[in-house]
Amino acid sequence: MSFRLVLIVIAAFLMGALGGLAFLKLRPAQLDAPGTQAAGKALIGGPFELVDQTGKTVTDKDYRGKFMLMFFGFIHCPDVCPAELQVMAAALDRLGGKADRVAPIFISVDPERDTPEKMAEYVRNFGPRFIGLTGSPQQISATAKAYRVYYSKIDDEKSAIKYTMDHSAIAYLMSPEGDYLAHFNYGAKPEDMAKTIEQKMN
Ligand code: NI
Repeated sequence: MSFRLVLIVIAAFLMGALGGLAFLKLRPAQLDAPGTQAAGKALIGGPFELVDQTGKTVTDKDYRGKFMLMFFGFIHCPDVCPAELQVMAAALDRLGGKADRVAPIFISVDPERDTPEKMAEYVRNFGPRFIGLTGSPQQISATAKAYRVYYSKIDDEKSAIKYTMDHSAIAYLMSPEGDYLAHFNYGAKPEDMAKTIEQKMN
């Protein structure tokens, strides 16, 4: 390769790297404004095929007509998942009868351990409305990708559970047509979540 060609190759590589960085920087910014529709609409959500807590294969279309309130996590999660699912349950309580229009959905990022049977047992803790979805590793990864959810397995041989999952802790509200409406960062209060859901229903 000539020196000139080498320079061109290096320049192209750097531009690619910068483009990638710009993209990475853009993503959290787009998730910064809770309750806004514009930025996320086209980016978050999409079709999925998973297995519910009764062992039935379901798709996003099964929840059309309901506002999907979705959260991704795993059963062995010590604090973040149970806390967020409690917040979702408390928000639904505040909605009273309007909660009938919401499908609260917990999606496992640990399909290796979270079988439909275990999901059934787990989601029951948060109320009868809760839906627990799991699936094959491929189904889970495709769904997480569509909803821009990050997760990663972390080995922890010293712990009783052998490994843990690092994962995003953002809940999504999707419209009855399956479009992104709002998201809730971890730590959102049930009253604020209920208020946003109610606003989006009107
Ligand atoms: Ni968790």
